[in-house]
Amino acid sequence: MSAHPLATDAGIEILNKGGNAFDAAVAVTATLAVVEPYSSGIGGGGFWLLHIKRDSRDVMLDGRERAPLAATSDMYLDENNDVVPGASIDGPLSAGIPGVPAAMAHLSSRYGALPLSVSLAPAIKYASNGFTTDEHYRRMAELRVQALNASADAARIFLRNKKAPEPGSLIIQDDLAATLNLIASKGARGFYQGALAERMVKAVVSQGGIWSMEDLASYRVVEREPVRARYKGMQVVSAAPPSSGGVALVQMLNMLSKFDYSALADAQRVHVLAEVMRRAYRDRAEFLGDNDFIDVPVRQLTSTQHATMLANSIQLDAVTASAALAPVTTDTNKAKDTTHFSIIDGEGNRVSATLSINYPFGSGFVATGTGVLLNDEMDDFSSKPGEPNIYGLVGAKANAIEPGKRMLSSMTPTFLETKDRIAILGTPGGSRIITMVLLGALAFHEGGDAEQMVNSGRFHHQYLPDKIFTEPDVFSMQLQDKLSAFGHEIEILDSDYGNMHIIVQHKKNGQLDAAADRRGGGKARIAP
Ligand code: GLY
Repeated sequence: MSAHPLATDAGIEILNKGGNAFDAAVAVTATLAVVEPYSSGIGGGGFWLLHIKRDSRDVMLDGRERAPLAATSDMYLDENNDVVPGASIDGPLSAGIPGVPAAMAHLSSRYGALPLSVSLAPAIKYASNGFTTDEHYRRMAELRVQALNASADAARIFLRNKKAPEPGSLIIQDDLAATLNLIASKGARGFYQGALAERMVKAVVSQGGIWSMEDLASYRVVEREPVRARYKGMQVVSAAPPSSGGVALVQMLNMLSKFDYSALADAQRVHVLAEVMRRAYRDRAEFLGDNDFIDVPVRQLTSTQHATMLANSIQLDAVTASAALAPVTTDTNKAKDTTHFSIIDGEGNRVSATLSINYPFGSGFVATGTGVLLNDEMDDFSSKPGEPNIYGLVGAKANAIEPGKRMLSSMTPTFLETKDRIAILGTPGGSRIITMVLLGALAFHEGGDAEQMVNSGRFHHQYLPDKIFTEPDVFSMQLQDKLSAFGHEIEILDSDYGNMHIIVQHKKNGQLDAAADRRGGGKARIAP
């Protein structure tokens, strides 16, 4: 199941051809790149959490973008040491080195049952024949119309007369089809070396970017040990650094385990959740980054001792101001993008994948003649300590820009397991991803089905700004009054957020229960 019906259909097509969950994951990844260009793409990156049934093994495939080798810690600062607005968001200077093509090739060759050319065929078809846009596409394109118009190829492909296309428009991507065909025939080499790579580097450099051929040739996916924990009988397997998702999720669950959470009254539940979120996001800001470059104290952060120390400062009837934990403050409530899909096959192999090009339509820049829309994931670095990124997230030295380093992510593809059920979940949503997965995990732990997990109301605290953000109509007036009395500031957002996709399997009979988020246009399908 995925965020777009055509991508879900592509996965089913590949399963029906004899592919396993990993082949289907390649097909869904590539098709999302074509039909959901505002969320992910072969010019972007992601994390694929895999359960390999044969070996009873979980692994996280890290296809996160890397900073170009010419990147510097102050590359987005002006002569006054101020962040240049938009520099890490628009155009090719904001683009990290993509990981999706290498990850697809690795998934296929290492774990798949079918050739890459077969798994990529549905995406190539949708790129060549086109797909029809909807209202969501129009809104995303409208948001990024300026950045897309700055790139001749992007404007030609994704806009109509320099404007966001009306729903029902046909988007044909011939150059992208040719690029996917090259990957289908040559594997990762087709993307990272040779004529296509030369074209991308030339286009990027001509528009102020800093990619080199060496950047592309040296890109590697990494297999990483996922983060694991147990919460009151539920096993949790989630994303490792350079995502902050698994660590923060485990920290929050560990803190919660110090409370009789299920027995708390409504206002206290929200309050305690906000307090554990606050503390986990504070640690995120200070400690999380690319483990290959800095020493992320994963074991310490996810230990019960650390959770006890943090939880001990939580009062049941009063906030701990974020300022009491650390300085710096900011605000943001802008759009964000990314995508998630979940797959399970007949053998029991599982994939939970969250992919991104960061802001809608990434950097807005398409490398001339390649159809590759580049990410703007460099904004996920901390351009300046304490300075918020587009999600309002602050960071420190741990997530400073360094050549070849992966930028910190919030993507949280996750597996949950209780004695009788398994869940595969994740969602887009920028900094709110981790708290959405937390709320989904708690709903699962309390016996909720897939529908209840994806569709319950959402709220979020991320340490800074010091307030609880909530979807409209989630908190009653009475609840708001009680939370205010505890000292919380509450911001009711204009709209709902997230696009979670969950599969739940009952262990006893293998029965599946799946749900696509009511907030998105995705689709769940079970192969016949
Ligand atoms: N670009 C969003 C994230 O990785 O968290």
